[in-house]
Amino acid sequence: MKILKEYLAEAGNDGLAIGHFNISNLVQLKGILSAVKKTGVPVMIGTSEGEADFIGFKMARAMVDAVREETGLPIFLNADHFHSFEKVKEAIDAGYDSVLIDLSRENYKKNLEETKRVVEYAHSVNPAISVEGELGYLVTESSKVYKESFEIPSESLTKPEEALKYVNETGVDRFAPAVGNLHGIAANEPKLDFELIKKIRAVLPSEVAMVLHGGSGIPDDQMREAVKLGFNNIHISTEIRVAYVDALRKMLAAAPEETTPYKIYKPVIEAVASKTAEKLELFGSVNKI
Ligand code: G3H
Ligand code: ZN
Repeated sequence: MKILKEYLAEAGNDGLAIGHFNISNLVQLKGILSAVKKTGVPVMIGTSEGEADFIGFKMARAMVDAVREETGLPIFLNADHFHSFEKVKEAIDAGYDSVLIDLSRENYKKNLEETKRVVEYAHSVNPAISVEGELGYLVTESSKVYKESFEIPSESLTKPEEALKYVNETGVDRFAPAVGNLHGIAANEPKLDFELIKKIRAVLPSEVAMVLHGGSGIPDDQMREAVKLGFNNIHISTEIRVAYVDALRKMLAAAPEETTPYKIYKPVIEAVASKTAEKLELFGSVNKI
């Protein structure tokens, strides 16, 4: 089986994007897997620090290994938005395929130096590990559905010339810019800055994948354009969580006497599967990778 970097490169060449979906438990994984199985596309499963601590690093690795073995599909495990070298090291040592060292809220120098340290460590353990760095920052948090609107401050956006220097000096395999995207779902529609996206893609080396965070709430037409302009990996979390809890609340209300977890979670798995399928279709990778 090819490694993640190869799948990302192929997606980039074909103008498609690989989906990245976060999980907190087996129920989410089963829902995502049910959609992925029908398409056979490569996919990334992410655990944030909180999600990894909840599941357990070894358990996350074992779950993804089990589904890879059962299905033969290219499913990769990513440490998503890890905020320190020490925490990333835990994920690498547990056998994660991929990590995002997110020091986007730190100053440029610290972000650059620590990200470089992570790249060196990850590649010394296994050159196949794909390392992502982030420059520019997103002003909101994932998993929240906000009642308020947000304006994107210009200082939070990624500067193309800094991006080039950062990528060259750190040696990251994937780069996550801030281009008008938001984590979570805001009351106002996000407006991606397509001119900025073009400029950033133009300065990045072709072998570096460009990653779009905060995929939830981005209207379909903007998402299609973002993929066309060169994002080859897209992160979705909040929309999956919302589908999960909505289905769970509905099930518990409809069957208050039910005590069997696998029966309670059946419609939840279906809701997660359907949201995942919708996104995979949107990213264009279905039947193409
Ligand atoms: O890393 C995870 C994400 O960027 C997910 O963002 O919750 O807005 O979909 P989202
Ligand atoms: Zn993110």
